[in-house]
Amino acid sequence: MSSAHYQALEPQTSDEDHEDIERQPHRSVPYTMGRKGSVSAGRRRCLLLAGAVIFIVAFCYLTFSMDTRLALGLGGGSDDSDEHHGLDSINFRPLNETLHICSESYEDRRLFMQDKPRSEYEKLPVIYFVTPTYPRREQIPELTRLAHTLLHVPRLHWLVADDQENCNTYLDTLLNRFGIPFTHMVSPMPSKFRNEKPAPRGVANRRAALQWLKTHNLTNGVLYFGDDDNTYDLRLFSEIRKTQIVSMFPVGLIADYGISGPVVRKGKVVAFLDSWIAGRRWPVDMAGFAVNLEYMAKYPYVNMPYKPGYEEDLFLRSIGLRMDLIEPRGNNCTEVLVWHTQTKSKKIGTLRMESKYMDDRSNLGALLHNLKTMGVALISEDEGRTALISKNGKEKPHSLILS
Ligand code: UGA
Ligand code: MN
Repeated sequence: MSSAHYQALEPQTSDEDHEDIERQPHRSVPYTMGRKGSVSAGRRRCLLLAGAVIFIVAFCYLTFSMDTRLALGLGGGSDDSDEHHGLDSINFRPLNETLHICSESYEDRRLFMQDKPRSEYEKLPVIYFVTPTYPRREQIPELTRLAHTLLHVPRLHWLVADDQENCNTYLDTLLNRFGIPFTHMVSPMPSKFRNEKPAPRGVANRRAALQWLKTHNLTNGVLYFGDDDNTYDLRLFSEIRKTQIVSMFPVGLIADYGISGPVVRKGKVVAFLDSWIAGRRWPVDMAGFAVNLEYMAKYPYVNMPYKPGYEEDLFLRSIGLRMDLIEPRGNNCTEVLVWHTQTKSKKIGTLRMESKYMDDRSNLGALLHNLKTMGVALISEDEGRTALISKNGKEKPHSLILS
């Protein structure tokens, strides 16, 4: 129950005060109190009724299980209120996504990780690292940088879910080259959300990855949502691998405070520090928690609704998280092991060059072709800025050099 409710009930529950007023009629009492005293019989009936209602609610609350309480809208935690922003109206349903797998590999072709042969890590639980990504000119560089972090992480399956209709074959080749076990899938954001501001970024993709985990009946390992543009400290992976239920830890460079994360007292998570609470019971960043798959498998309604800003909160609610279940990591949440870095995004540019010069007379044909395939630049015969080439500090039309 919220503190607002307590305030409303307080005067009614103070029977002693009430009796006091009746017993001492000559005492100087404020006008409002006097009026209350004059309708004391009706008030008593109200009190009785209110008492009965409180008794019934308390009885239900103490008797019913957490799930039943949630289903009846009685709230799920002792001091956590659900009465914000219509979050109660979100109906959790089992995920039913259609999976479109582009390519996948379960083979780990890496020989060494962090100076040890792969065989030394074989007993570790697998981390399922879910990366939503989307086509823009920074996509391939971002994924390359992320891959070079993940290359150091043993026992990891990388779920790369691309926010588009069609499989990007360049991405298939790239992912395959790293030698990290991976699944590349496509899962476009439903068109009705595309033009919304803000749009639910990376939700369709994460839902597809959750569906993949469900379809594979995975109950061993750890789930982590790792966006393509964050910065990950290698120590994060050893920390999240220990997750028994749900781990939490601070994320650096979030919003106004430059940080978002749990408040820990005596080794237990008791609250959260974040500059945007907005009624979220779990005001954490997507990169600020990890989930044990055996625990998650117990929740058939695991879901991530399309509700911008509330994805983390609603996901964590869908797996019945309670404060006492949270495992603080990163030296009791004193260290920052993941950073919410953001790459400056720029609109794709067009380079104008006649197609006759796009052959093998120079490197430019192959280079520009690659850029186009990676989605970094567009090449056109009649649009954009004519490709300039320079020699000895002098700008020349490309035709002069390439003819
Ligand atoms: C912040 C949080 O750090 C994210 O964990 C959270 O997913 C996101 O907000 C949100 O829910 O809106 P932010 O940097 O603002 O992240 O967002 P992006 O990094 O642009 O997007 C989050 C992820 O979704 C990225 O991995 C991105 O590649 C992907 N994404 C973004 C899509 O798949 N489709 C899009 O249209 C945009
Ligand atoms: Mn980001």
